[in-house]
Amino acid sequence: MRKPFVAGNWKMNTNSQTSVELVKCIACGSVETAGQSVTVAVCPPFVYLQAVAKALSSSNIAVGAQDIYFESDGAFTGEISASMLKDVGCSYCICGHSERRHIIGESDELINKKVTAAIAGGLLPILCVGELIEEREASQTNKVVTRQVKKGLAGLSVEKLRAVTIAYEPVWAIGTGLTATPEQAQEVHDFIRKLLAEMYDGELAEEIRILYGGSVKPNNAADLMSQKDIDGSLVGGASLKADDFLAIIQAAA
Ligand code: 13P
Repeated sequence: MRKPFVAGNWKMNTNSQTSVELVKCIACGSVETAGQSVTVAVCPPFVYLQAVAKALSSSNIAVGAQDIYFESDGAFTGEISASMLKDVGCSYCICGHSERRHIIGESDELINKKVTAAIAGGLLPILCVGELIEEREASQTNKVVTRQVKKGLAGLSVEKLRAVTIAYEPVWAIGTGLTATPEQAQEVHDFIRKLLAEMYDGELAEEIRILYGGSVKPNNAADLMSQKDIDGSLVGGASLKADDFLAIIQAAA
């Protein structure tokens, strides 16, 4: 019922040449799956969005931004608005990635403004949530994720929630090679879906895609995505290698 979704978050990697080469390889290898059995998106750095979108124009791969600013225009040096992202061919936008929460210092309130602005601007936000290792060890995972989901989605109507994808990315699993086990991830995904059912309604909660992120690789993707509430993955490092990303797309199909 929920179509699997695999998105690549390139973070601060690639250049004008390698970004285009990478998507050409991904598009070539996913002709049978992307946009059909699996929703596929790539999220390059802002400066390569336009070139990547152009290279993907005849494919079914969507383009997403790694961040957004909530104001529509004006004196906000260095920031990028929803309409600018739409203008260069984006349909998705990551909001509240753990690196922005923990390195840049984004708050739940700021992330909520970004999610709201993305939807208002016609983009589909991917709201990232996830606990630190100390929080998991202190059995605070559910509490942290509840706060991030409730605050991140604050004020969104039922209709607007339909635009949202959630990505559960335990911070301790990002870029560390330490993946959550399929059971650990499923437990949190199930918890998030029940939380959405409580906040909205059960039927709508069943429609929302919840992706797992954190050291997803070709050798663990199928096991993770075989779990009932894991609807795909948000891939970091492995999305920079066409063969690895294609294998992960295949595992979701
Ligand atoms: P890695 O796949 O490199 O662990 O990164 C995950 C991530 O942060 C995706 O947004």
